[in-house]
Formats: sequence, C-alpha cells, structure tokens
Amino acid sequence: MSMPCLRGNVLRLAMIVLAFVFLPGCGAKPEAEVESFLERHWVEPLPPQGTPPAGFSELEASLDPQACGKCHTEQYAGWRESLHSRTMGPGLRWQLMLMNQEQGNRCLRCHAPLAEQKALVALELGWPNAPKAPPPDFVPPDLGHGGLVCAACHVRGHERFGPPPRAEAAKDAPHGGFTVSKAFQDSRFCAHCHQFPDDGPRLAGKLQEDTFAQWLASPYAKEGPGRQTCQTCHMPDRKHLWRGIHDPEMTRRAIDVKLELADLGGGRREAIATVRNRGAGHHFPTYMVPKVELAFVRHDAAGAHELGRQLIGWQVDTGITREIADTRIPAGEAREFRQPFAAPADDWRVELIVRVLPGEHYERIFRDSLGRAGQLPAAAVPVLREALANVEAARYELLRVEARPIAN
Ligand code: HEC
Ligand code: HEC
Ligand code: HEC
Ligand code: HEC
Ligand code: HEC
Repeated sequence: MSMPCLRGNVLRLAMIVLAFVFLPGCGAKPEAEVESFLERHWVEPLPPQGTPPAGFSELEASLDPQACGKCHTEQYAGWRESLHSRTMGPGLRWQLMLMNQEQGNRCLRCHAPLAEQKALVALELGWPNAPKAPPPDFVPPDLGHGGLVCAACHVRGHERFGPPPRAEAAKDAPHGGFTVSKAFQDSRFCAHCHQFPDDGPRLAGKLQEDTFAQWLASPYAKEGPGRQTCQTCHMPDRKHLWRGIHDPEMTRRAIDVKLELADLGGGRREAIATVRNRGAGHHFPTYMVPKVELAFVRHDAAGAHELGRQLIGWQVDTGITREIADTRIPAGEAREFRQPFAAPADDWRVELIVRVLPGEHYERIFRDSLGRAGQLPAAAVPVLREALANVEAARYELLRVEARPIAN
C-alpha cells in the first residue's frame, strides 16, 4: 500500500507517531492526506478483495457483517437497525430488474459498492458479465442483499481501515490489526455517496444530491470547537446508527416550530407557522425525496375543519424534469408558511399538525409505475408493491402545536 506514514498495526502506534515527525515526505498536510486517502479508498469501481492473507482464520477473512459482529457487537447491532443495512431494499431491487448491467452498476456504486456484491447481483439478475466460478468462501451468498456492509466502508484488499483508536487497542488484534486514517472523521468520507460531483445531474440549476455542499456552506462546517461533521451528528460517540429523517426523535431535533395568528381584518385571520432549521447540518430536508407536511386545522363549536396543507421540501415531478417548488430550509435559517382563513365568531383555535413523509417522491414514482404494471417484467411487480408499502409505512406524525386568539 502507498501509505507508509500511517500504515501499520496499532501496536506500533508510537512508531507511527515518530515516523510522522521524522520521515521526509511525511509532513503532508492532514488535508492532503485525507483527500488522497479518500481517492484511493473510494476508487470507482472498487476492486475485488483478492485472496485473504495466509494467516487469516475463516472468521477474520469473512466479508459477512455477521462475522464482523461476532467481535464488534455494538457496531453490528447499530448498523443492523440502520438504513445503511437496507440500501438493497425492494425500492432499489425492482428498478434493477429493468436495467442492464452498466445502468445497474451505476446504482450499486452507492447501494452495494463491493465488487463481490456486484458479482452476486449480476448472477441473480442474469447479467452477462457475471462471474463463472462460484463466489469464494469469504463471500457469504447473501452479501449482495446486505446493503452497505461493514466491509464497504472498512475493508480494502482484506486490510481493515478505521479512525484513530480511542484507547490503546488490544494486543494482537485479529485481521492483522488495522490502518488508521482521519478520513473516517471527515465529512468528505460520506460525500462519496451523499454528494453528486459538480457535473452531476441538476434541476433548476441545483445538484440533485448536494448534502455535503449544503453542510460546507453551513455554520457547522466552520473550523473550531463548534464544528460539527456528518459523523458528529449522525454517528454520535461513533455509534453506527445514522438516524435521519426516518427517525422521529432525530427529526424533532432538527426544527423549532412556532404558530401565531394575525388579524387581516374583515373577519379574516391568518395562521403563520415559522419553522426554523436549528439542528440539521444541511437543508431541512436535504434531498428531494422526503417531504414535511404542515396541516392547518381550525377547531370550533362545529368541530375540526382543515384549512389547508403546505409542504416543506424540494418538490419535483416524477420524471425529475421540472421543479414545482423548493421550500427547503437551509441550516440555521427559518421559513414562514401562511394560511389565511375566515374566523368564526367565538371560541376557536388553530392547530398545526406536522407530518413527515420520508419517501414522498418515491411514493409518487412507485404509484405511477404500478399503474403501468402491465409493461413491467412480471417478477418486478411484487417487489414494486412491497416497495410502495414500505415507503407508505414510513410516514409519521412529528408534532402538533396550537394557537388561540387573544381574548379581548
Ligand atoms: C475475531 C474478532 C474480530 C473480527 C471477526 C473482526 N474484528 Fe475488527 N477488530 C477486532 C479487534 C480486537 C480490533 C482492535 C481494536 C479493539 O481493540 O477494539 C479490531 C479493529 C477493527 C477496526 C479498527 C477500529 C478503530 O479504532 O479504528 C475496524 C475498522 C475493524 N476492526 C473492522 C472490522 C470489520 C469490518 C470486520 C468484518 C469484515 C472485522 N473488523 C472483523 C476484532 C475483530
Ligand atoms: C451517489 C450515490 C447514489 C447513487 C449513484 C444512487 N443512489 Fe439511490 N440513494 C442514495 C442515497 C444517499 C439515498 C438516501 C437519500 C435520502 O434518504 O435522502 C438513496 C435512496 C434511494 C432510494 C430510496 C430508498 C429505498 O431503498 O427505497 C431508492 C429507491 C434509490 N435510492 C434508488 C436508486 C437507483 C434506482 C439508482 C440508480 C439509477 C440509485 N439509487 C443511485 C445514493 C445513491
Ligand atoms: C457508511 C460507512 C460505514 C459502515 C457501513 C460501517 N462503518 Fe464502522 N465506522 C465508520 C466511520 C465513519 C467510523 C468513525 C466514526 C467516528 O470516528 O466518528 C467508524 C468506526 C468504526 C469502528 C471504531 C469504533 C470505535 O469506537 O472506535 C469500528 C470497530 C467499526 N467502525 C466497525 C464497523 C462494523 C463492524 C461495521 C458493520 C457492522 C461497520 N463499522 C459499518 C463508517 C462505517
Ligand atoms: C457507499 C455509499 C454511502 C456512504 C459512504 C455513506 N452513505 Fe449514508 N446512505 C447511503 C444510501 C444508499 C442510503 C439510503 C438508504 C435507504 O434508504 O435505503 C443512505 C442513508 C443515510 C442516512 C439515512 C437517511 C434517512 O433517510 O433517514 C443517513 C443519516 C446517512 N446515510 C448518513 C451517512 C453518513 C453520516 C455517512 C458518512 C459516515 C454516510 N451516510 C456514508 C449511502 C452511503
Ligand atoms: C448539526 C447536525 C447535522 C450535521 C452536521 C449533518 N446532519 Fe444530516 N441530519 C441531521 C438531522 C437532525 C436530520 C433529520 C432532519 C432532516 O432530514 O433534515 C438529518 C438528516 C439527514 C439525511 C436524511 C435525508 C434528508 O433528506 O434530510 C441525510 C441523508 C443526512 N442527514 C446526511 C448527512 C450528511 C452526509 C452530512 C454531512 C455532509 C450531514 N447529514 C450532516 C443533522 C445533521
């Protein structure tokens, strides 16, 4: 490997530190180290792992997340609950069934990036470039469906890579120890999949996936003690949870919601919802897929009456050819949503119900596609149905707030 400065077993940490100080050419700035590490770590496409080192036991050689989990129990338990373990869900799989290998591999780059995973998916879908020989012993047969497995982020050529250890690591660490890089604590590590390159697909001039750039422009990216990376927020205490908009608690942390009433005169009132993005390190929400719905409801003697609904999010048509509206809220900023209405004479209040539709864009695409199910390969239809049921089931109510007219 071409990392003489950081290379090596943690047992030799002391030596590494010395090497850093004394070896010529090793004074490379940490910035440059991270950049060049990530270029190699996320080379496209990832090469196969090759033959495991002779001394590896079956357990040490295995790419199965469950094998890693035998020793790294905490990371495995977190990861299994996370969406990173479900990146090969039905929502992706029914679409792969309509694709050729080249198109499919473009999706797998982020959804199942290991060469060993792509080979298994190719076998399953009967793609022409599938391997002729059965997968080697260190590849479990279900790795293709495993999603973003541990090895996708941590293993290259059977070598383990990880962040600087927190404590002195155990002596004789298995799998030949590990190689340390600060890149694991850098937001750019995540950008490989959560940011399109500058020449990537755009709509209305905006990159369709732009999370890293939104973060970079946010107050959280400023160097100093207040700096918060993707990992600080999404992997607190190095936990492998990656909670996001699918998680009510995480999403509640992202926003403050205030509801006020204004008198427009002539019996007309206006409910004003102010939503502040106080906790997301990028736009709320960052991507075009989720929507947050604001439902304004008036309660009076006659009962509940819905006044209207408004959406927070980047609304685009299902073909991704036209922007309908972009009401996302940048980090630290606020946006007002106004709902005018006729006020009854007495005893009324307005309630704001905030609901989250984490997969709204996909709900529309999947429903449209089911409407044309006759044109799809028969095997794809049940997978598509399951995908639609999954995104619909992910909806939840986030919170409610109320406002009453001031009695005079
Ligand atoms: C037989 C037990 C065992 C298995 C199996 C195992 N590991 Fe480890 N791993 C260790 C031990 C012990 C260490 C040393 C660090 C420590 O003491 O926790 C370690 C260190 C690491 C580190 C470095 C942590 C840091 O601080 O940077 C990473 C990353 C890692 N392993 C990933 C994996 C992955 C991914 C797999 C599966 C492909 C795996 N390991 C399989 C026991 C194991
Ligand atoms: C640059 C990385 C990247 C590429 C390439 C990519 N995706 Fe994704 N995909 C993501 C990320 C990140 C998310 C999660 C976004 C979020 O939750 O806001 C996602 C989410 C999804 C989801 C919703 C989750 C689910 O399992 O239902 C589907 C469906 C999906 N992608 C399909 C595809 C398809 C089809 C392709 C290829 C045409 C593709 N993706 C290519 C990064 C990528
Ligand atoms: C999406 C990429 C990704 C995946 C998938 C992933 N990790 Fe990690 N892992 C990281 C990052 C990033 C860190 C460093 C986080 C930090 O320092 O804030 C890390 C840290 C670690 C550490 C060091 C933990 C510590 O407390 O020092 C171990 C061990 C580890 N991962 C093992 C695993 C295992 C086992 C799996 C699968 C069950 C896994 N990882 C899946 C990205 C990933
Ligand atoms: C190899 C590609 C890849 C890498 C690297 C990666 N992710 Fe992801 N991430 C995805 C995909 C694909 C999804 C969509 C999962 C789904 O919904 O099926 C996702 C989902 C997520 C979600 C869940 C969002 C939600 O909708 O609730 C969060 C949060 C997240 N990633 C954060 C991170 C962070 C932080 C890092 C860096 C430590 C990272 N990711 C690295 C591909 C990646
Ligand atoms: C200051 C904390 C913070 C930082 C920094 C941060 N996030 Fe988030 N992120 C959140 C919160 C809170 C949510 C849930 C609300 C939301 O979806 O915006 C979230 C949601 C997400 C989602 C869910 C999908 C969506 O459309 O919102 C993804 C994906 C994600 N983050 C990835 C990242 C990546 C990648 C980085 C680094 C470039 C990052 N986040 C930095 C707090 C943070």
